[in-house]
Amino acid sequence: MAGWQPGKWRKRSTKRGFARASMTNAGAGVLILLLAACGGSPSYEQPAAAPAMSPAAQVGERIFSDTSLSGSRGQACSICHDPANAHAPGNALAAQLGGPNRNLQGVRQAPGIRYLRFNTAFFFDSEGTPTGGFFWDGRASSLQVQAAEPFLNPFEMAMPSKAAVVQRLSQATYTTEFRSVFGSNIFADVDLAYDRMTFALAQYQKEDAEFAEFSSKYDAFLRGQATLAAQELRGLALFNDPNKGNCAACHPSAKGADGSLPLFTDFTYDNLGVPRNPDLQANADPTYFDLGLCARPDGSLSTRTDLCGAFKVPSLRNVGLRHTFFHNGQFKTLKDALTFYVQRDTNPEKFYPTVGGVVQKFNDLPPQYHPNVNRTEAPYNRNPGDVPALTDAEIDDLVVFLNTLSDGFVP
Ligand code: HEC
Ligand code: HEC
Repeated sequence: MAGWQPGKWRKRSTKRGFARASMTNAGAGVLILLLAACGGSPSYEQPAAAPAMSPAAQVGERIFSDTSLSGSRGQACSICHDPANAHAPGNALAAQLGGPNRNLQGVRQAPGIRYLRFNTAFFFDSEGTPTGGFFWDGRASSLQVQAAEPFLNPFEMAMPSKAAVVQRLSQATYTTEFRSVFGSNIFADVDLAYDRMTFALAQYQKEDAEFAEFSSKYDAFLRGQATLAAQELRGLALFNDPNKGNCAACHPSAKGADGSLPLFTDFTYDNLGVPRNPDLQANADPTYFDLGLCARPDGSLSTRTDLCGAFKVPSLRNVGLRHTFFHNGQFKTLKDALTFYVQRDTNPEKFYPTVGGVVQKFNDLPPQYHPNVNRTEAPYNRNPGDVPALTDAEIDDLVVFLNTLSDGFVP
């Protein structure tokens, strides 16, 4: 635990196996890719053929899109995590609307929820790096624990109690299937029925092939079944180069030694100093701050003020299909999100408001937590007046590469 120092991620790069000395000699993007492949990042191979889902997972699929289980009767997992948009919102709202009348705004961006079957419960690794967990602050220890929250969240499905949810469940169109999987008397025990409902949702997300297709153009490229265009290859090289994008340090891009495919997240946490988003209604209160990891509702990390402002590294798979970026949905295009990465420290006035002639850098964090922001790694290791790590044209190359990470590539 003590080993983890916010904003000091040299250990991260070492851990990822980025042999900096060899990298300097590498040069060409393909070589960089091969070198990066030696890293021990979590990554997985696509199953040969999608096996049929278990009966529990099939029930889970029905629950996932059942709007009758919400206070408004108009909200369901599938509304915010749209299967037609890689299980992420199809709109550009900073946060989705829920509640009894579907007009209450949440406080965080709704993430895409694919490839999460490879995530683990939250833990501090041997170097003290916070890792794993579900939600932006990792507060849920599994997909099943996560699935218990949205039904009762007043800003989401807004049901008054577990009993009310189970009551609706007992009247659902698939109630016969639910009973046949979990027992004919299942609805007599509210806690058990609720638990089985969340189990079914977790199984669905783990078993349905759609949640981990590994079917992007980049996957085809890694399998030797497709070639990347010149600009895509340039973007990939910049993505991997520790002195340029350095993206792979947190969003691993290379196959594992066993041939497994990369997840584009190492499920760790970092503090990027993303600007405050005025579109979030919660931010109308100047004393409100979303502090992420240190501010979990259960208080489990409240003494770790060094973790204030840290959020989970999201997978960049399907990022090209998103309409908002970062935990507070502050950026609306990939280009803007990446320009922020690259110019945050060289041109902060572009991203933060100026008050009385002073740029309000890191304005979504109280001043005492500004030192927590990562300032030591490329691309955000610069100062005003420095040359940004990437040119505008190089940012365009990165965007083009990131668009090869969308599932459903047809050669
Ligand atoms: C009103 C929109 C909304 C609805 C409805 C909703 N979610 Fe979410 N979901 C979110 C938001 C916002 C977050 C991030 C919240 C946070 O980090 O505190 C999230 C996070 C998640 C995560 C964690 C992702 C990660 O990277 O760790 C999973 C899994 C998930 N939702 C699944 C579900 C399931 C299953 C349902 C239905 C039971 C559901 N969601 C209903 C908005 C929604
Ligand atoms: C030191 C770790 C780290 C590095 C290096 C890094 N990222 Fe990230 N990335 C994160 C974290 C953490 C978040 C979420 C931050 C937040 O929301 O506050 C994130 C979020 C993102 C998002 C938003 C995704 C979404 O679903 O909202 C994009 C896009 C992204 N990164 C791309 C990149 C690219 C491209 C690079 C290289 C130029 C890069 N990242 C380098 C840690 C990193």
